[in-house]
Amino acid sequence: MTTNSSTKITKPGLGGSTTIAGRTVLVTGANRGLGQALVEEALRRGAARVYAGARHRFTHPDERVTPVIMDVTNPAQIQAAADQVESLDVLINNAGVSLPDGLSDRGALERHLAVNLFGTWGVTEAFLS
Ligand SMILES: NC(=O)c1ccc[n+]([C@@H]2O[C@H](COP(=O)([O-])OP(=O)(O)OC[C@H]3O[C@@H](n4cnc5c(N)ncnc54)[C@H](OP(=O)(O)O)[C@@H]3O)[C@@H](O)[C@H]2O)c1
Repeated sequence: MTTNSSTKITKPGLGGSTTIAGRTVLVTGANRGLGQALVEEALRRGAARVYAGARHRFTHPDERVTPVIMDVTNPAQIQAAADQVESLDVLINNAGVSLPDGLSDRGALERHLAVNLFGTWGVTEAFLS
């Protein structure tokens, strides 16, 4: 989870606790798994707006949820998402892959780095700038 002061991410909080009620939250990889659960938990805690990033279009019944198309390996989609979000309190870099036998397969390693490292970095940079 990233919380910080910037033009995009507005609330300081690194190293401290963060109140979700009334805040604006973005979750990457929000369509299933832990990301989906994080969206539901943010709503349960009273988030004012939850941007739900996913690689494919999906809908959510809660009007506080704004789906955002965002493959974290796609810089144009990341930038489009950052342009769409006026301000953000909490960024949850959840999107990630965990591929079996990753250490014996260069392609798998590259996929890990592309999504888990550079994807997370790219999203964070876009929302901090
Ligand atoms: N579950 C665990 O025990 C555990 C333990 C340690 C760490 N983690 C990490 O926690 C995160 C969530 O875990 P999980 O169990 O919920 O994983 P999951 O069920 O495999 O879900 C991964 C999510 O990340 C999305 N994603 C993958 N590549 C993406 C990309 N390039 N751009 C945008 N979204 C992408 C997936 O979207 P699609 O549906 O489009 O594939 C999906 O929404 C992952 O980063 C995982 O590595 C999980």
